[in-house]
Amino acid sequence: MKNFLKVIIFSLLVLSAYTLFPNTLPQQKSEPPPLEEKVGALTMEQFVAIGADIYSGARGGFGGCVLCHDPKLGRAPRLENMPTVAEGRLKDARYKGKATNVEEYLRESMLEPAAFVVAGFGVPGSNDTQSPMLVISKYLKPWEINAAIAYLQTKDGGEATVTPPTGQEDTGGAAAGGAAAPPAPAKTPQEAFQKYGCGACHKHEKGGIAGAIAPDLTHVGSIAGKRKPGLNAGDYIRESILVPTAFVVPGQPPIMPPGFGDKMTASEIEMVVKFLADSK
Ligand code: HEC
Ligand code: HEC
Repeated sequence: MKNFLKVIIFSLLVLSAYTLFPNTLPQQKSEPPPLEEKVGALTMEQFVAIGADIYSGARGGFGGCVLCHDPKLGRAPRLENMPTVAEGRLKDARYKGKATNVEEYLRESMLEPAAFVVAGFGVPGSNDTQSPMLVISKYLKPWEINAAIAYLQTKDGGEATVTPPTGQEDTGGAAAGGAAAPPAPAKTPQEAFQKYGCGACHKHEKGGIAGAIAPDLTHVGSIAGKRKPGLNAGDYIRESILVPTAFVVPGQPPIMPPGFGDKMTASEIEMVVKFLADSK
């Protein structure tokens, strides 16, 4: 009975929230959990579990490392026995990054993927000089990146060298290792593609992006109006960004990350929608 009451009260709260704020934009967005600004002290076990959630896509709002690193997809290297693999990368003649140990290599792989592009996995045509990896820092805070490192270090039996948050640090800000203040809104569609990592997956010639694992958006304006009955090109494109699963392009994997509606400003969304709708 008590639980039943709780459910009723919760539903009423949710309903009243929608009644009070009916016009919160965008209305049909999906709901990745908001990242909390502060995190308390975590045990190593909890920390590694958070890393595992980031890996699987249960946390982070971008679909997870498995988006690309799922061994079945063959789009990105298997992330197995990473301590040993990383040691090897650091000794590779092509390595030109700054890392000196496994932890630093893993962090660098996420923050500056182009420092070392695993042979055969670069952006097509770049001769393995550009990485198609997602700009992870747009989705994860520094301590969450550390959680992913702890997971990668330990999942096949190694030791973690990163330390879990103690609850003292300001995990929302720069103190935890360099998260910058929120960047200014993008002024051009090109800037927006860059800022939100659309180019990790999509290509758009004038947009200056060259991803190759999702539909080429160069001429998306000519087909977008035909994808879904009743939606014009702009509305379809807006929906694709806000609720990627609302329509999955046939033959494509449903891997477009949810949550752009929360991260992008309304003006960035409208600018990108217009640019893509005009891309004929
Ligand atoms: C959009 C696809 C994509 C996503 C999402 C992605 N990666 Fe990657 N990642 C790649 C590709 C492709 C490479 C290989 C090219 C390179 O070395 O940069 C790579 C390389 C790596 C490497 C180096 C591997 C090695 O063998 O040296 C690590 C470590 C890594 N990713 C970790 C992660 C983690 C952790 C996440 C999730 C937090 C993640 N990646 C999410 C595509 C992705
Ligand atoms: C991790 C890869 C990935 C990222 C990052 C990504 N997308 Fe996508 N996107 C996809 C895939 C795969 C599809 C096709 C499947 C689907 O319809 O969901 C898609 C579909 C679309 C479509 C519909 C295309 C069509 O032909 O109908 C649009 C528009 C789009 N994305 C825009 C964007 C924009 C804008 C961004 C950045 C804000 C972005 N995407 C980021 C993977 C991605």
